[in-house]
Amino acid sequence: MNKEETIQQLKEQVLLCHRCKLREGCSQVVFGEGSLKGGLMVIGEGPGQDEDRQGRPFVGRAGQLLDKILESGGFNRREHVYIGNIVKCRPPGNRVPLPEEREACLPYLMEQIAIVDPKIIVLLGATALQGLIDPQAKIGTSRGKWLYWEERWVMPTYHPAALLRNPALKRTVWEDIKQVVEKYRELVDATHRSEYC
Ligand code: URA
Repeated sequence: MNKEETIQQLKEQVLLCHRCKLREGCSQVVFGEGSLKGGLMVIGEGPGQDEDRQGRPFVGRAGQLLDKILESGGFNRREHVYIGNIVKCRPPGNRVPLPEEREACLPYLMEQIAIVDPKIIVLLGATALQGLIDPQAKIGTSRGKWLYWEERWVMPTYHPAALLRNPALKRTVWEDIKQVVEKYRELVDATHRSEYC
C-alpha cells in the first residue's frame, strides 16, 4: 500500500473510534489533512467549533492565522505540510483535553506520524508539546529550541490561538518559523522559497 492508501485506511478506523467520551459530545472526528510528502508536519491541540463543523483541522480563526504563518515560510497544506492534532474530537467548550483523552488518541497520532514520516514536526502550544514529548515541559522555555525525538527534528512554538490573544507573540513565532525554513532547506528541499526569509 502507498501512503495515501495507508492513511485512508487509518482514517476509516479513526472515524469509527469511541475510545473516549469526546466522541459523544462532538459532531465529527477531525482526522487531519495535508501533504504526505513527509517534509513538515504541524500538530495542534484539538478541534474547535469550526473544525468540528467542517471536519477539517485548523479552519477557524486560529487556522487562518496558522495558514498565514505557514505561507510566510513558503509552506502550504497542499504541497508541504500535514496537519494533525493531539485529540481528534472537540472537547466540550474547547477545554484542554484530559490526560486520558490524550492517551486514548495518541496511538492514532503516532500512526499518522509514522505514515507521513515527516523530517520536521512543529508543535503548536503546550498541549501538543506535553501530549507528544514530555508532560512536564513548558512551552515558554521549550519554544524556539530544536528537540530531536524519534529521529525527527521537532520545533515547539506558541499556538496561533495564543497569538490571537496576545499579538506581541507573533514576532517570537516568526523567529521559530525562520528556523523551520532553514531546517527544511537543509533536510528536505534546498531550493525551498519563501518571500520573507
Ligand atoms: N486548534 C487546534 O489546536 N487544532 C485545530 O484543529 C483547530 C484549532
